[in-house]
Amino acid sequence: MNSAFEASIEFVQRKDKEDKLARFKNKFFAPHYQNKPVIYFCSNSLGLQPVTAASAIGQELLDWQEKAIGGYYGAKNPWLFYQDYFTESLSKLAGCKDSEVTVMNSLTVNLHLLMISFYNPKPGRYKILMEAGAFPSDQYAVETQVKLHKQWGNIPAKDEAIIEIFPREGEKLLREEDIISKIEKEGNSIALVLLGGINYYTGQFLDIEKITAAAHKANAIAAFDLAHAIGNVKLNLHEWNVDFAIWCSYKYLNAGPGAVGGVFIHERFAKDSSLPRLGGWWGNNEETRFKMEKGFIPKDKASGWNISTAQVFNMAALKAAMEIYDEAGIDSLREKSVQLTGFLEFLMNQLTNLEFEIITPSDPERRGAQLSLYFKSNGPEILAKMKEAGIVVDYREPGVIRVAPNPFYNSFEEVFQFYKILENFRH
Ligand SMILES: Cc1ncc(COP(=O)(O)O)c(C=O)c1O
Repeated sequence: MNSAFEASIEFVQRKDKEDKLARFKNKFFAPHYQNKPVIYFCSNSLGLQPVTAASAIGQELLDWQEKAIGGYYGAKNPWLFYQDYFTESLSKLAGCKDSEVTVMNSLTVNLHLLMISFYNPKPGRYKILMEAGAFPSDQYAVETQVKLHKQWGNIPAKDEAIIEIFPREGEKLLREEDIISKIEKEGNSIALVLLGGINYYTGQFLDIEKITAAAHKANAIAAFDLAHAIGNVKLNLHEWNVDFAIWCSYKYLNAGPGAVGGVFIHERFAKDSSLPRLGGWWGNNEETRFKMEKGFIPKDKASGWNISTAQVFNMAALKAAMEIYDEAGIDSLREKSVQLTGFLEFLMNQLTNLEFEIITPSDPERRGAQLSLYFKSNGPEILAKMKEAGIVVDYREPGVIRVAPNPFYNSFEEVFQFYKILENFRH
């Protein structure tokens, strides 16, 4: 038992009083259910709306109204350079240089685009190593890319190109040593290692640096889906030497449904304009973009992978959200998040009336905000009861209720209330 925590109202009130981030709750709209505020533990699915999002979008609408085409240069935030407004804030979250990060499209689209550049199947080296049960969209992206390459004759039609890595029999989490030994064993045949940095189902945060080193030792590309990691845990992608990463901005980044996706490309590739890619004018050097000449000259940074005109209204919400991140800082957020999730774990371990298992790693270093509660048989029923009690979490087959207290807008008292509500559930 963790003696730093106590299951009492006095304890949570003290913790909330000491919480330096408490004021950030008011920077987001609180959702309601049946006219009552809910306990929202679902920002691992969709983050809450920043109060400033509407005015950020409104500013762009106003500039469009008043300046029309003049907005590309003359808007308060000139639209021509919109992607650039995120590099500083996102590089802090991704732990990289400004030139290594950009925003564009959405996660799965970006995975496809980056696989075009980084997945280069050759005779004898065309395999992709990923975790079994990776997020379905990633699986579909990989499956369809492999199919295309088979059609193009880059991969023998009858060969299996995807290597899946499973937890050991009777276990729910991947063991890093198993991932590494698989890479070592299959090394010569692997072209790409693609893993979820934090697994969406279990909440396991992999040792990205170690896995990247193993992939590189095998001469493979190391790539990570960071949908559940960005803005949640501290990342250091440049130092960890990751080749590329993709993420979405609608979970912990609070930029709204379908928000623009983010991309990291290590500078050794980002500055290499000769690297093949699918091009478009927004990735072209700004100096020559409007000369309307033949010949694509990509920018020598991650935004050299941009293709189309910036989606300004979409990006405006991310801009509002990033300003809040800049104010709070990932260090303070992570510090509170470790406490909140630790407290949630402490309380869940005291529940004797419900039969479930916490499958997320118990080591705070190996998880983010989310705890995955595995219910062998009655997960959907428990979820329905939670909903009725004003709790917003989500359910992922098989059997997992994901619970993610967010350091921006959740309090210790809400975690305690959650526990008190569950304590009253019948078996
Ligand atoms: C881990 C992970 N990968 C990929 C996706 C798909 O993202 P998108 O729909 O933005 O392509 C999601 C969406 O929730 C996700 O959680």
